[in-house]
Amino acid sequence: MCGIVGYVGKDECASLLVKCLKRLEYRGYDSAGIAVFEKGRIKTVKAKGKIAEGLQKKLDEKCPHGTCGIGHTRWATHGEPSDINSHPIGNGRVSVVHNGIIENYREIKESLMRHGYGFESETDTEAAVKLLDYYYSGDPIDAISKMMAKVEGAYALGILFRDFPDRIYAVRKESPLIVGKGRGENFIASDVTAILDHTKEYYILEHGEIAEITENAITFYDASSGDTVEKEVQVADWDIEAAQKGGYEHFMLKEIHEQPSALRNTISPRIKDGLPDFSECGLTDEMIRNYRQIWIVGCGSAMHAGMVGKYVTEELARIPVNVDIASEFKYRDPLIKENDLCIIISQSGETADTKAALELANKAGADTLAIVNVVGSSIAREAKMVMYTNAGPEISVCSTKAYAVQCAFMYLVAFKVAYAVGTITEDECRKLCGELCGIPDIVAKCIEEKEQYQFVASKLINADSLLYIGRGLDYALSMEGSLKLKEISYIHSESYAAGELKHGTISLIDENMPVIAVATQERLFDKTQSNVKEVKSRGAKVVLICKEGAAVDEASVDYKVQLPGIRDLLMPLVTIVPLQLIAYYTAVLLGRDVDMPRNLAKSVTVE
Ligand code: F6R
Repeated sequence: MCGIVGYVGKDECASLLVKCLKRLEYRGYDSAGIAVFEKGRIKTVKAKGKIAEGLQKKLDEKCPHGTCGIGHTRWATHGEPSDINSHPIGNGRVSVVHNGIIENYREIKESLMRHGYGFESETDTEAAVKLLDYYYSGDPIDAISKMMAKVEGAYALGILFRDFPDRIYAVRKESPLIVGKGRGENFIASDVTAILDHTKEYYILEHGEIAEITENAITFYDASSGDTVEKEVQVADWDIEAAQKGGYEHFMLKEIHEQPSALRNTISPRIKDGLPDFSECGLTDEMIRNYRQIWIVGCGSAMHAGMVGKYVTEELARIPVNVDIASEFKYRDPLIKENDLCIIISQSGETADTKAALELANKAGADTLAIVNVVGSSIAREAKMVMYTNAGPEISVCSTKAYAVQCAFMYLVAFKVAYAVGTITEDECRKLCGELCGIPDIVAKCIEEKEQYQFVASKLINADSLLYIGRGLDYALSMEGSLKLKEISYIHSESYAAGELKHGTISLIDENMPVIAVATQERLFDKTQSNVKEVKSRGAKVVLICKEGAAVDEASVDYKVQLPGIRDLLMPLVTIVPLQLIAYYTAVLLGRDVDMPRNLAKSVTVE
């Protein structure tokens, strides 16, 4: 949700800012802009559209020269994507890039209008800009602190004051922002991937802190007291190759291919002496035995991984598991209490709804365990316990490897809980852990089967709508498969519990509605096959995803994708591969922008 960068150093910064912004474009891409100090004046260039289509073209015509500036790539919340609503937003004295939402912008705007201020854009950000200008009387820290006391909402801001052409100011409330520490140059960025070319060292700006950044110094202030704050420098363990396409046509394809290694990095450190080991987060067997129930909360793909967690944990550990969509959880007054464990899943660790759900669970007194990919993110820091998924940066907006490792974590949790409560023996637990360790190699083999996924994709491209069906764990996977397809191909699709079709939805079925049936669970295979026959006899083209050796009634399916026959319980980790790649190739065949689908952005930091 909007990417922010800033640079102060010795180099020409316009092209540097653009390069950093391109790394953040996954956060929003409806417009982009930069503001640079040129001969003591703030020069702004901004344009609607992706960086390459808008901003870069304008910069090719006229580029500001200077060594201190800020940049922004936008995902519109207030005001349509347009040149005027693009950031940076300024008035010559102050210039601002903003990620987040200023909730009371109307009230601020009205009051400033009474003081003679005019407004040009439809953005909420302009209220903060004009408020800064209103409070500014020579001391930026004072103006920023007063602005913060007035403004409500979530925000990360990069700020230039015309009177201080050698420095950038940054401030944060809720929305993420880091300050990069270089040699004779310093940075701000929404996340560390933007600046990995230049430095791996960074500070995490905390809520209510202000940073003042020059080429040789970074000073942090507490906004309410004005006191300086000492902070510990962090070192990113991601390298720049991880944030580049590395020869793949799209980040999504690269990230699908990274799944075997991502899975290894998630699983291996958590299995010690053949058994699940959660000592890194402090979750003990005794704590587990005291839990009344488990909650798993997340959004989108993260929530779908939670569905896998529910099925697997309930089956193995016989303990109730509730899966919630974070945006529903936080408003429905859930019956969460002390003695509950709440697992919060998030790739970015910054998703606003998920973060609010975590706050609610913390407040209710539950134990909270965050399963997060981005180290040092808000959710990671606010949960009582945290474990990282170690997948490396996920750049494509459409989640693939992050989902895979979240699912892998769900197995680790299920094994750990089941062993702790005694529903599986030590031998059974060791066997399950051993089989889990073997999954990355099987996933690697499935990824190689690209021709069959391309073939299936070629049969879907003319559909207006699709149905994914499955039962049990296959239903959980159908949800994720359907989301992948609609997200990047723009073909409408729904996932449905196969047994539920005849209670209404089957009326949609005709020769124009392909059905992808996921049927990898032996116990449920015949049941799902009956549903397949029902849709086939009503004209649907059927793609069946099943295990090798399944007793398929060939007459009822049009295309078959067969997967290696491993234990049913572990099949989701393998089944996801064809679902991802069918969606990927469908989107490619339709000429879609795979890594940056329309209207979307990664890391949804607004409600
Ligand atoms: C789908 C997708 C989203 C995210 C969701 C949660 O491909 O990427 O559904 O899974 O926005 O994001 P995180 O995991 O960052 O909280």
